[in-house]
Amino acid sequence: MNAEDELELPQLYRHHVFACHTERPPTHPHGSCAASGALALWDRMGKAIEAQALSDVALTPAGCLGFCNTGPLMVVYPDGVWYRPTTAEDIDEIVESHLRKGRRVDRLVIVLKRS
Ligand code: FES
Repeated sequence: MNAEDELELPQLYRHHVFACHTERPPTHPHGSCAASGALALWDRMGKAIEAQALSDVALTPAGCLGFCNTGPLMVVYPDGVWYRPTTAEDIDEIVESHLRKGRRVDRLVIVLKRS
């Protein structure tokens, strides 16, 4: 039995995705995930999660994650995996591999949490 089991709290999500929705003007020196095409990607991810009835996966809009010129950025918890998807196919692969099967998509990872 681990510490979480001892607390007897509800366990809501197997994966919780935070996706950067920050939008800045195109000329802003920091850039932004929205300016990099993020919103269409997150929309696709939300629809895929819903269509596949992944009720133990949450997708939450997030503010700036701090690496703006690298976007679009999203992070999957509790794994602490940061992804930079740029195409619809990337989103489909993250949903199928990571969110459905628990297998990280290494080719799209830009940062991992500290262990
Ligand atoms: S705007 Fe997305 S990480 Fe800063």
